[in-house]
Amino acid sequence: MNKDELDMVLAVVKSSLKPYLGKFSSNERLPEEGVPKKQILKEICEMREVERHTWQEGYVSGAVYHGDPEWMNFLNEVYALNAEINPLHADLWPRATRFEAEVVAMTADILGKNNSPTKNTDGGVVGFVTSGGTDSILHAVRCARDHAQKERGVTNPTIVMPTSAHAAFLKAAQYFCLEPIRVAVDDQGRAVPREMEAAIDERTAILVGSAPSFPWGVIDPIEELSELGHARGIWFHTDCCLGGFLLPFASQLGYDIPKFDFALKGVTSISCDTHKYGYATKGSSVLLFRNKDLRHYSYFKVTDWPGGLYNSPTMAGSRPGALLATAWAAMLAMGKNGYLEATEKIVATTKKLREGISEIKELRLLGNSVLVTAFTSDAFDIYALGDLMSEKGWNIGGLQLPPALHMGVTLRTAQPGVATKFLTDLADSVKKLNSEPGRQSVMAPIYGVGKHIDTEVSLDDILVGYLDVQYDTR
Ligand SMILES: Cc1ncc(COP(=O)(O)O)c(C=O)c1O
Repeated sequence: MNKDELDMVLAVVKSSLKPYLGKFSSNERLPEEGVPKKQILKEICEMREVERHTWQEGYVSGAVYHGDPEWMNFLNEVYALNAEINPLHADLWPRATRFEAEVVAMTADILGKNNSPTKNTDGGVVGFVTSGGTDSILHAVRCARDHAQKERGVTNPTIVMPTSAHAAFLKAAQYFCLEPIRVAVDDQGRAVPREMEAAIDERTAILVGSAPSFPWGVIDPIEELSELGHARGIWFHTDCCLGGFLLPFASQLGYDIPKFDFALKGVTSISCDTHKYGYATKGSSVLLFRNKDLRHYSYFKVTDWPGGLYNSPTMAGSRPGALLATAWAAMLAMGKNGYLEATEKIVATTKKLREGISEIKELRLLGNSVLVTAFTSDAFDIYALGDLMSEKGWNIGGLQLPPALHMGVTLRTAQPGVATKFLTDLADSVKKLNSEPGRQSVMAPIYGVGKHIDTEVSLDDILVGYLDVQYDTR
């Protein structure tokens, strides 16, 4: 790809990310007089209506995990009742700390707090709420880095992670100056303990496993991986951002879910997203630590600042208490039975999709998951299949290494008729591809499909351009 081709790709990106250009005014400076509130609300409603169909009808992978109008109205009401509250001012709004403490306690309860072999000696599992999965992971890695320095004198730390671990761990490594050591996974997409062990040395600050991983939705052998950490005094993090509110319930429903939580003595921290299968409003996740001493690695405090004594548990200062309230309200309103019911629907829908895909001979399922269907093709360019599905209104995730597609199943996907429609559209699209051998995807350059990339323009340029386009106002 050369620079002209890059501009063409970015023009396509722009047309998809900026559908409102020319339709509404572009606001690049404050209006002299305030715009009437009615007009502002009308504009928002118009955009919302344009965007609503794809996610609400269930045509998207992941993204919105509940989304029933009645549920959203409830959470919006909870948000509105708490819009001003901020746990930074705990004395002003003690209810914010009630929400956070109880969200953490309930999440810890789901994730093995009561089965923790150390609960009687270390005071048990604690945590805090962050703004999302990435935020929880950033905090876990930073704490592990500081723990390794304090406990083992590690000054040049590494993070040992399977290649399937979420990109947030690479972001954390970049932000907090750890060298990422990325270890290949097996043909089922799972971390290989033997290979992970070989990557450990005296510099290792943190080991990572996922339950489950984002790409193929598979669960790493957390028991063996966490033992590797425990035997060496190395922090082990289970990334349950995606599955934390689903796997425990799948297990209770009798599905075969390997151990991954604090019942394993080697698990030091767990990230678990309330804003995914917890069904809360976007913007919250829980980071749990095996005990209070470990949580203290995150605390910030300063005693000689002119602004007064200052302390804060997470990287943010002020935090949206309303999102703590929606997480709390979502968990109470779902209850254990609500989560069991939702999990049953999601696992059943995933099974239906997987069975349907396995009947299409040109497609090959990747890994085994209760909440994701990842698949590829040895017969054609899988991204071309993604393009055809997009034309039919689907917003499916594109994976790479190897090229594949994936559909994260949510309650939206579990609505009646959605899985059947997906499979029908998939079969139609495969038929079409069979009649057009050699068809290539317009998405190929984005995924770095070899022949489109040369030295003039790198994939980094595309990714940087993609983000820059988002900030364009015209
Ligand atoms: C396994 C896993 N970890 C971490 C994340 C990051 O979560 P967020 O997008 O909320 O930052 C995701 C997101 O899908 C995920 O699936």
